[in-house]
Amino acid sequence: MANVAILGYGVVGSGVAEVLTENREGIARRSGGPIGLSYILVRRDFPDSPFRDKMVRDFSVIENDPGVDIVVEVMGGVGAAKDYTERALRAGKSVVTANKELVAEHGCELLELARANGVSYLFEASVGGGIPIIRPLSQCLAANEIEAISGILNGTTNYILTRMSKGGLSFADALKEAQEKGYAEADPTADIQGIDVCRKICILASLAFGRQVYPRQVATQGITEVTLFDQRWAEAAGFRIKLLGRALRREDGRLTVYVAPHLIPASEPLAGVEDVFNAITVRGNAVGEVMFYGQGAGKRPTASAVVADVSDIVRRGKSARPAVQWGEGAEDLVVSADGLESRWYVRLADEDACLPEGAVTVEDAPEGGSAFLMPAMSAEDLKAALGGRAAGLVLRVLD
Ligand code: NDP
Ligand code: HSE
Repeated sequence: MANVAILGYGVVGSGVAEVLTENREGIARRSGGPIGLSYILVRRDFPDSPFRDKMVRDFSVIENDPGVDIVVEVMGGVGAAKDYTERALRAGKSVVTANKELVAEHGCELLELARANGVSYLFEASVGGGIPIIRPLSQCLAANEIEAISGILNGTTNYILTRMSKGGLSFADALKEAQEKGYAEADPTADIQGIDVCRKICILASLAFGRQVYPRQVATQGITEVTLFDQRWAEAAGFRIKLLGRALRREDGRLTVYVAPHLIPASEPLAGVEDVFNAITVRGNAVGEVMFYGQGAGKRPTASAVVADVSDIVRRGKSARPAVQWGEGAEDLVVSADGLESRWYVRLADEDACLPEGAVTVEDAPEGGSAFLMPAMSAEDLKAALGGRAAGLVLRVLD
């Protein structure tokens, strides 16, 4: 019998408790033995919860109980979450988390601490919610040199963009819906400003390329400037607008990692990913391109990934080495995306300004703005091509 303690009883923590309990027989069969729930760490009362008798307020109860094998950290943040994770690992307990902020900032040192203590630190749920991506990337694609990763990695923003374009909702109303459904971060600015995608692409890049990529190294643009006009214009031109995290290996071995909304041709699979769904394409030098798709946020999809990690630890037993490891990063590891050539979508700040040379417009363009596509060039060359014209929004086209 293996025993789990859950830290945090919010959207994900309550989902983990439910899934562990509801699916206990199947989980036991697939894990090679039963998995019990010993404690849930909370900081307020949940009098109506069916798990109220498991709730404790003092982490040291969990830390000092030798019967607890696995700690599930789903509190979020990098303060108490980091402290409790370190203490659990030092106490010889494996830790499973959905906390991408913590993994993106401190993954390398926490993985090393887990290794030093002969336990695991797993975080399948930290990227793509319920989509299996961490284990496929680290195990199933292990034969490959990874060349590129591009992903729709945030359920909240994909939901907002979909509800704006298909449901006619305002940005604020679409965000409110996403919050009510449990998709958004405690502070949703992390979602809409691209910070959450930045953390996730850092984790994928660290995993794929073997060295820690830190959020501060990644240029990040969110969706707050994208308007319904931009979406309508993109659709008229045969594109969809999606927020992407991208990590590309350069020929010199360094990386370009960035986050920004892109225009994606409507015929591409990524363009059809809607609502809370996420999708990640990975290009390896042996396998070619593969794609992972599923619900990127929400209580039960995320709990599914968390419990899969718990099951994996139980099945492999204490003798198994940690499945994932990467090395320290470096200041010069990540190179700006400015030199990367692509076509561009430009919406001018001044609707009446004349168009630059090379601009391509579209028939049936929506009213209320002046927008066009520019041919493939670097960001520096685009700036020169626009001359003194002020842009309201500039987005890359993913070709
Ligand atoms: P919630 O805010 O719903 O839940 C977090 C819970 O942790 C809250 O109940 C909070 O208590 C509790 N908590 C925070 N600090 C402490 C503490 N020191 N001691 C005890 N309890 C504490 O967040 P989510 O469940 O949505 O997210 C949890 C983690 O999972 C985050 O890292 C998030 O980024 C990640 N994640 C979330 C997904 C989702 O779809 N929601 C998907 C994938 C990952 P209180 O209620 O008192 O504030
Ligand atoms: N806020 C995140 C999202 C949760 O919307 O994708 C899943 O990581």
